[in-house]
Amino acid sequence: MKLTLAIFGAFLMTSVVSGAEPVSEPFGKTKDGQAVELYTLKNSTGLVAKVMTRGATLVQLHVPDKDGKAADVILGFDDVTGYESEDNQYFGCTTGRVCNRIAKGKFTLEGTEYTLAINNEPNHLHGGLDKSLDKLVWKASPYSNEKGQGVKFTVTSPDGDEGYPGTLEITVSYYVPNDTNSISISYTAITDKATPVNLTNHAYFNLAGEGSETVLNHSLRLNADNYTVSDDTMIPTGEIAPVEGTDLDFRERTVIGKRIESIGKTAAIGYDHNFVLNAREEGKTMTLAAIVVEKESGRRMLVMTTEPGIQFYSGNFLKGQKGKGGKTYAHRSALCLETQHYPDSVNHENFPTTILKPGEKYESKTTYTFEIEKPEPAKN
Ligand code: GAL
Repeated sequence: MKLTLAIFGAFLMTSVVSGAEPVSEPFGKTKDGQAVELYTLKNSTGLVAKVMTRGATLVQLHVPDKDGKAADVILGFDDVTGYESEDNQYFGCTTGRVCNRIAKGKFTLEGTEYTLAINNEPNHLHGGLDKSLDKLVWKASPYSNEKGQGVKFTVTSPDGDEGYPGTLEITVSYYVPNDTNSISISYTAITDKATPVNLTNHAYFNLAGEGSETVLNHSLRLNADNYTVSDDTMIPTGEIAPVEGTDLDFRERTVIGKRIESIGKTAAIGYDHNFVLNAREEGKTMTLAAIVVEKESGRRMLVMTTEPGIQFYSGNFLKGQKGKGGKTYAHRSALCLETQHYPDSVNHENFPTTILKPGEKYESKTTYTFEIEKPEPAKN
C-alpha cells in the first residue's frame, strides 16, 4: 500500500512539473482590444512564476521563505488594465529596444542621425512611448523538457518603430528548472540594419513580499569595483570611476538604507546608478552580479548575468500606488537590478558596444536564484 502511494506521489510530482507544458489563462484585454495571456511556470522546489504576453512581463514570482512559506516577491498588478495605467513604472517588463537613457534621444549610426522620443526630459528612456517593447503584445510558445519548463516570447519591432532603424526580431525566454528555485531570462535579437539593442527585465523586488513597507532593510552586495559617472540628467559623462570611498561601494554586503539619505540628495535622488561588473572568471559565461538578502524572511537572491553592467535602482519614484490585491507600493519599497550594457552606450565609444548588425545575433542571459540564508550561530 505504502509503495503504491509513494509511486502515485512521485507520478503526481512529475506530472505537475517535469514534462508538462506551462498552462495559460486570460489576463484581460489591452485598450485596443488585444487579448493578453498569463502563463504559469512552476517547479518541484516551491517556485511559481507567472509571465504575460504584454511586454513579455514577469507578473508574479513566488518563492519560499526560511519556514517554507511562499510569497510573491515582485511588484505588479492583477490584470492588464493595471499594467496599462499611469501607476505602472515598467513593473517586471522586458525593456527596450534600448533600456535606460539615450542622451537627448539622439545618436548617429553609419552617417545617419536618428531622433527618438524624449519621454524623460531631456532624454529618451526605456525604448520610448507606445511602441516600446514593454507595451507590445508578444507571441508565446510554452515548452518543457525533463529539466524544467519555460515560455518563449517573440515579437517583431518594425523598421522605424520608436525611431529606431532596422526590423528587429526579438525573443525572450523565461525558464524555471525543476530542481532549483531560479528563473532564467534569455534574450536574442536579429536585425536587417545596424541598430542599437540593450534589453533587460525591470522587475521590482521586495524579498519580504511585494507590498512590504521598505527595501531599505535589505542588504546588497554588488560585484562591481567601478561605476559609470553621470551628469545631472542621469547621462554618463563617459568616466568610469571607482566606487571606493563613495555611497556606491557595495563590494561588501551593506544595508541599502545605510547611506541612502546622502545619495538621496544628489540628482539621482537615491540609488539609480549603472555599476560596471567586474570581469567574469575565466571559463565562465556568467558573472555573479549581485546578492540581496532580507533577514526576516531569510530569502537571499543571487543575480548572475552575461551582461557587463547592472543598474541598481532603489524605487525612488514609487509613489504609493495600489498594486496587486490593493497593496500599496511605497517610496523605496522595492528595488530593481537591471542587468544591461551601460546607459547611452550608443553615444560612448569607450563603452562596450550595443550595436547589432545584420548577420549577427544579440544574446544575453540573466538568472535570479533564490536561497535561504541561515541565521549566523549565536556567539557565546
Ligand atoms: C529605472 C530608471 C529610473 C526610473 C525607473 C522607472 O530603470 O533608472 O530612473 O526611470 O526605471 O521609473
